[in-house]
Amino acid sequence: MSDKVFIFDTTLRDGEQVPGCQLNTIEKIEIAKELELLGVDIIEAGFPVSSPGDFNSVLEISKAVNDPVICALTRSVEEDIKVAADALKFAKRRRIHTGIGASDYHIKHKFKSNRDAILERGVAAVKYAKKFVEDIEFYCEDAGRADKVYLARMVEAVIKAGATVVNIPDTTGYCLPDEYGAKIRFLKENVKGIDKAILSVHCHNDLGMATANSLSGLMNGARQVEVTINGIGERAGNTSLEEVVMALKTHKSLNLATQINSKRIYPLSRLVANLMRMPVQPNKAIVGRNAFAHSSGIHQDGVLKNRENYEIIDPEDVGVKQSSIILTARSGRAALKHQLIEIGLKLEKEELDRVYDQFLRMADNKRDFTEEDLLALAGKPKNNSKIKIISAQIMSGNPSAPMARVELEYFDEIHIETAIGNGPVDAAINAIRKIIIRKDIKLEEFFIQAMTKGSNDIGKVHMQLSDKNNNITYGFGTDTDIVFASLKAYVDGLNKMMFR
Ligand code: KIV
Ligand code: ZN
Repeated sequence: MSDKVFIFDTTLRDGEQVPGCQLNTIEKIEIAKELELLGVDIIEAGFPVSSPGDFNSVLEISKAVNDPVICALTRSVEEDIKVAADALKFAKRRRIHTGIGASDYHIKHKFKSNRDAILERGVAAVKYAKKFVEDIEFYCEDAGRADKVYLARMVEAVIKAGATVVNIPDTTGYCLPDEYGAKIRFLKENVKGIDKAILSVHCHNDLGMATANSLSGLMNGARQVEVTINGIGERAGNTSLEEVVMALKTHKSLNLATQINSKRIYPLSRLVANLMRMPVQPNKAIVGRNAFAHSSGIHQDGVLKNRENYEIIDPEDVGVKQSSIILTARSGRAALKHQLIEIGLKLEKEELDRVYDQFLRMADNKRDFTEEDLLALAGKPKNNSKIKIISAQIMSGNPSAPMARVELEYFDEIHIETAIGNGPVDAAINAIRKIIIRKDIKLEEFFIQAMTKGSNDIGKVHMQLSDKNNNITYGFGTDTDIVFASLKAYVDGLNKMMFR
């Protein structure tokens, strides 16, 4: 039987401290509800004393969420604890997360105090919090750089005072995996009463080792891990939920299991990236755009023969529809053949050889290949677009509402519609929607990329559309006018969705 690892999600507290990524209460509730469906055990919803907005978010999340424990952060300060308890009053299950610095850096240079006095303050905070809430987590801030013997004293004292969980943060992302794991083991072996509390790992990613350190902590006896979606957080971020969950799932021999429904990982990653306006780096493990994309010929051939040749995770297991084959100058015939079949073209060997030669000549100068490019290569240029943009005028400014007038050819007839929207692209898409009455087609993703540099640059737009049956299509458009590029991408996606 595997041991349970509790997933403590701090996307809405530590994660939300990223500059420029603040969320409003409604957005936080939306994420909290998704975290509940994902199966996290604890949601750290905010730091209530820090602002009225944070207080309100903890209050509203407590009402909106049923299963996970709702946790609120405090310093070892009575006022913080009182306010946190108040913000948690509607939570079905609640936890106060209080604590204080444990390293000599913090003790001397932040608190200008000494070890004994700081330990006393920590113990007093736990006893005070215990008056309001049974479940108390204590963080020994900067534990990664703290003296392990003093840390053990602190952990022992706060457990004696009533802490149910003790968090050992590597606040500055300083530790190496062996060092951090050894610290957790030392606490497990030297703290009296350690079995009365759960040890929690909370690692930052300053040296890119947050996930490795967290796993090392779990392998040495910790049973709670503090994580954020996409690894967002201050500076280089926190440990990412998806990496820890999938590492434990992939390495069953560790005998550590979470109750996360991993199929919900990717959609939630997208939601967090969109609401926080914080794109995920393409090569990010598990949730990056390229995490299941294969571009070299050897790998593509291997994956097409058997996915497991080059993938240790089934993309569907994390909610990604399928692996993708990206055509590049390093792609082989197998990949080109596969992509041509995907768009409905089955070529005989000689024809495939001819198309492959042409493809290689183009590939050195081309960053990516669209369906149109492949059809053109195969001598079957696409001229069956049923929806064509004839003209578009878009007006936007401040404070007037953006407005668009779009003229479309749709089944050989000309249609003109106007609409407003919350931005110029939204207005133009709304005008198209009035002509193409397909309410179920939704815009799932929208990326704008600059192709070169400068203000006269060409903008390239990728859009992902879905319909009521969860069919996905991608639309592409390029133009010096990014609004027009967006329109082209939308219409391209519609043509593929509706007429392929
Ligand atoms: O990194 C850290 O030490 C923290 C604590 C406040 C838990 O986020
Ligand atoms: Zn932190």
